[in-house]
Amino acid sequence: MSLVLPGLTSLVTLLSVLENQPEDSRLNFTELAIKYGHPNVEAHDVVTEDGYILTLFHIPGKIKGPVLLLHGIVDSADSFIVRGTKSLAITMANKGYDVWAGNTRGNKYSRRHIYLDPDTDPEFWNFGFEENGYYDLPAMVDFILNSTNQTSMRSIAHSQGTTAHFVLLSMRPEYNEKIRGLIALAPIAFLNNVIPPVSTLLELGPEIDVFLASLGINEILGYYSAARELVELICSQGIIGYDLCFILGVSPFVGFDPTRIEPLFWEVIMGHYPAGTSRKSLVHYDQVFLRKQFAGYDYGRTENFRIYHLPVPPDYNLTQITANVSLIVGKNDNLSRIKDVDILRSLLPREPQYVLLKPRLWNHYDFVWANDMDVWLFPYIFSFLKEWA
Ligand SMILES: *[C@@H]1O[C@H](CO)[C@@H](O)[C@H](O)[C@H]1NC(C)=O
Ligand SMILES: *[C@@H]1O[C@H](CO)[C@@H](O)[C@H](O)[C@H]1NC(C)=O
Ligand SMILES: *[C@@H]1O[C@H](CO)[C@@H](O)[C@H](O)[C@H]1NC(C)=O
Ligand SMILES: *[C@@H]1O[C@H](CO)[C@@H](O)[C@H](O)[C@H]1NC(C)=O
Ligand SMILES: *[C@@H]1O[C@H](CO)[C@@H](O)[C@H](O)[C@H]1NC(C)=O
Ligand SMILES: *[C@@H]1O[C@H](CO)[C@@H](O)[C@H](O)[C@H]1NC(C)=O
Repeated sequence: MSLVLPGLTSLVTLLSVLENQPEDSRLNFTELAIKYGHPNVEAHDVVTEDGYILTLFHIPGKIKGPVLLLHGIVDSADSFIVRGTKSLAITMANKGYDVWAGNTRGNKYSRRHIYLDPDTDPEFWNFGFEENGYYDLPAMVDFILNSTNQTSMRSIAHSQGTTAHFVLLSMRPEYNEKIRGLIALAPIAFLNNVIPPVSTLLELGPEIDVFLASLGINEILGYYSAARELVELICSQGIIGYDLCFILGVSPFVGFDPTRIEPLFWEVIMGHYPAGTSRKSLVHYDQVFLRKQFAGYDYGRTENFRIYHLPVPPDYNLTQITANVSLIVGKNDNLSRIKDVDILRSLLPREPQYVLLKPRLWNHYDFVWANDMDVWLFPYIFSFLKEWA
């Protein structure tokens, strides 16, 4: 045994060297934080009101106060650190911010519940961005405020992370005092103006949902699933994997910008992403597109009456959002479209700050993965954080 195991381990190491797999594709958030100079990183368990156990990473900083980072759909806290010294988490930690990076229910770090088993209880997967906003986010915010003895904090969110914030600040308005500023990267509330192939896929959403449901699939691209292993196997095969998966597979949906996410870094990402979500999360976004409304989950007329006392789900009341909000938008973001962010802007009761990033090709994932975030994005982030210091 003792001879065989080291032998196997070195064989695996040899194979990954032969495949030229970058080391960072194998390291988790904690290990990356240590590697990039922050050995004091912590991982906390936060339990939500409805029993989900979430991993909340913390890189303690003493000078500039707590800030929460919240990732997008099928993603995890890793996206805020995979760029190493050029990532948002490490850059903030180096500047003395107290950095907290959350993981919403169902992703690879938060696939736990006090009594539901994600592998055997379909009920575990009965959630979408509303539950991320209504339960996950306040559990993290209260944990951070309590641990730091503060009464308010700031948040930076990407994509679905922004949706969760808009839900929370609308449904539980008391959190507008606890989150005194939100920086929304690639904000998503409305999907009225998406174009093909995103809109084509969303049109087909209901049929795809029926098909997946008939197969009993409730978890989508789970990190520990065979489907994801296959994705990683194919997509991390050098330039072929990059062309096939990033250029042909992902870019049409998020915007084409190949220079900011280079082939070797794509391999690193494939070790971390996709990190899993629920089928219901996708269905709820599909409803937002089909109904052209930023509203609660549509359960069908009868159930809607039982749950909402209305035939259709109510809109999230965005006029409740009184916190400071900054919306940061990319010109080539095919998910968070400029016109859809304009609708959101017009519905917020206080005029939010608004930034349209300069690069012509800036896409949905450049907000977390681009190799020049420090040039085009971070100056705005640090200026807003300073303004709400
Ligand atoms: C990260 O990896 C280390 C080493 O394998 C492990 O001990 C730790 O539990 C992991 N952390 C999380 C949050 O998964
Ligand atoms: C807040 O933190 C204290 C310890 O600092 C702990 O005793 C208390 O239970 C915490 N409260 C909540 C609501 O987490
Ligand atoms: C927390 O803050 C309160 C007042 O703001 C103070 O009285 C208390 O000592 C602080 N506790 C800690 C542990 O710093
Ligand atoms: C907005 O930020 C300012 C600091 O610029 C702060 O004084 C104010 O309380 C914040 N507003 C809200 C509603 O949190
Ligand atoms: C993405 O959106 C941009 C800007 O609207 C557009 O020019 C481009 O063609 C879109 N990409 C795809 C693949 O549809
Ligand atoms: C939405 O919130 C505003 C501000 O609190 C309130 O005046 C309004 O009645 C609410 N609208 C609905 C439909 O509940």
